[in-house]
Amino acid sequence: MTSKLYHECYTHVCQARSLLQDLLELGFNTIVPAVATHSADNVPAGLAFEPPTPMMESLSELQAEVEQCRACLLHEQRNTVVFGRGNPSADLVFVGEAPGYEEDQQGLPFVGEAGQLLKRILFAMGLSPEDVYICNLIKCRPPVNRDPLTNEVAACEPYLKRQPALLKPKVIVALGRFASQTLLGVETPISRLRGHWYTYAGSALMPTFHPAYLLRSPAEKKLVWEDMKEVKKRLESAKIRQAD
Ligand code: URA
Ligand code: URA
Repeated sequence: MTSKLYHECYTHVCQARSLLQDLLELGFNTIVPAVATHSADNVPAGLAFEPPTPMMESLSELQAEVEQCRACLLHEQRNTVVFGRGNPSADLVFVGEAPGYEEDQQGLPFVGEAGQLLKRILFAMGLSPEDVYICNLIKCRPPVNRDPLTNEVAACEPYLKRQPALLKPKVIVALGRFASQTLLGVETPISRLRGHWYTYAGSALMPTFHPAYLLRSPAEKKLVWEDMKEVKKRLESAKIRQAD
């Protein structure tokens, strides 16, 4: 075996090991094969890809506007504006907090360590990041990943309100305190908000803990998995209602 091939195999084994570790922590006891095979005729229930529509043009218009934004001081230090990624026609949208270093470098949300965990949570749901749409409350990286300031949240909030209105998903998952409290306009702690259904811009909204918090507190992954099971149920019942 060449050393390049050996290195690739080693990387895959390490990734598989950390995925299995996460699945165990999420509360899986058995692994059912054949999840997440996404050929065109085998798309997970409720997440079928639809061809581009004029709605997507409006989303790109919003993106072009956000990319010019100078409404708060975060624009001075940003490398890129992190607008969103994934399938704009998805039934499921995740809203995180703000870009970190990797996201600011690549211009894509959730591509760093927290993003790897989010990917594994999606995998446990039988999904991949391409099946959903992922964005953040704040579109520019706060310096040294500090919490967003009130004026920064206020500057970005109008964009966040327009984004789900254009995406019109069946379900929004708000990741962590900032996204949940801002979308719901409340100051209730995330530990009390999570696990309950709310409504936001015509979509069902489920707040849950942020993946970055789960990296620090892995014992809480079980609760997030409880929330994601509710999300899956909701998506499946929406699909059944649509088919009736
Ligand atoms: N944390 C977030 O909330 N969003 C990202 O895009 C990355 C980390
Ligand atoms: N604090 C946060 O800001 N988010 C969480 O998900 C948990 C604690």
